[in-house]
Amino acid sequence: MIKVDISNVWGRLSLPDLLAVESEVAAAHKSLTDGTGEGNDFLGWVNLPTAEETAEMRRIRAAAQRIREDSDVFVVIGIGGSYLGPRAAIELMQGCNHNIGKGKGDPQIYFAGNTLSTRAFNELQRLLEGKDFSVAVISKSGTTTEPAIAFRSLRWMLERKYGTDAARKRIYAITDPCKGALRQMATEEGWETFVIPPAAGGRYSVLTPVGLLPMAVAGIDICKVMSGANQAKETYNSLRSFENPAWLYAGARNMLYRNGKAMEIFVSFEPGFRMFGGWWQQLFGESEGKDGKGIFPVAAEFTADLHSLGQMIQQGERNIFETMVRFDAPEQKVTVGSDYKNLDGLNYLAGKTLDYVDEQAFQGTVAAHVEGGVPVITMDMGALNDEKLGEMFYFLELCCGISAYMLGVNPFNQPGVEFYKRNMFKLLGKPGYED
Ligand code: PA5
Repeated sequence: MIKVDISNVWGRLSLPDLLAVESEVAAAHKSLTDGTGEGNDFLGWVNLPTAEETAEMRRIRAAAQRIREDSDVFVVIGIGGSYLGPRAAIELMQGCNHNIGKGKGDPQIYFAGNTLSTRAFNELQRLLEGKDFSVAVISKSGTTTEPAIAFRSLRWMLERKYGTDAARKRIYAITDPCKGALRQMATEEGWETFVIPPAAGGRYSVLTPVGLLPMAVAGIDICKVMSGANQAKETYNSLRSFENPAWLYAGARNMLYRNGKAMEIFVSFEPGFRMFGGWWQQLFGESEGKDGKGIFPVAAEFTADLHSLGQMIQQGERNIFETMVRFDAPEQKVTVGSDYKNLDGLNYLAGKTLDYVDEQAFQGTVAAHVEGGVPVITMDMGALNDEKLGEMFYFLELCCGISAYMLGVNPFNQPGVEFYKRNMFKLLGKPGYED
């Protein structure tokens, strides 16, 4: 089980404070599992994980195997909830530099359609030169501008390279089962499709084909991911007390918010966790930031960001709390060497493992930040493996649903995202947006 430790928030928060919100946490959790809260038509993710492999998962694994065999590069097109989950999973499990040295048999994976940057598109074109590639286009609505533009170009590139018929076999569409332009195009063109369940909103869709196809192409065992998620579903939904780490996290962050801590920094000491932090940031930001409320979510990586955000965290405005995510140390150790001249003065660490140094950095940082008035929640994930990945995704989705209901907002809509789109469409002259 994931462990949440709130011993470093006492002082800002007392046990009676926390116990006072127990009934609120219980009610929020019950609303999610009974489907009685606002946005209850988007609760498809709650019971999504299953112990058995589904037919859809078998089809995903078969498609992934084909892509692994016939492609040097797999391009995943999508934005927001249709992109952050798979990228988070792949970078966490395989590192930020996972593409180095890869090709047919174990393809490189790039993400597109999450920007309107010409430079980024030109770079992708250069990366694809002379390579066999396949494309997954992910869009629940099927109408989002950024992925639609990227897909149009990549589809043309595929058709020019392979001809229309062969190109069709290299396009995989992940979208709504019935609605939207992408569903219609896929039906007309005969692309292989996978379904995003209508009742699972974008940012709660990582455990659907949205996340599972790219993960499977990367060689992650999606049966293990789903098994971990299913275990999480059973465990974290059956414990209805503060023994449940989801309750502790949701309860503590809401209490801190009510005590003026309006910003949460979600930190890990793993560089590969950066995109997972991005996924968390979208999950919590888009779910909670509405009706003039919400904890502002910021993802950070220590110790790197201690040299950029560290000063602000230590001595800036005192409206911050941190959640520090930890994993068990990997089995393969790295040891600091000894140098006979010792000009860098590091011999006092000779023979110590990098994990040991990292651990002291962690402990030192927590102590410093707590002393500086920043409450720190720690989230101990345990060993990092495919099952754990599924457990973490489900656990944080559950925490987010509970926390947003405690905050009194609908976690499953995102009306604010439409504002920039309306202005952009008007400026672009999209029909229907003239006024
Ligand atoms: O969480 C969400 O719902 C959003 O971030 C969407 O995933 C994002 O806007 C992309 O939407 P779509 O999948 O419809 O292209």
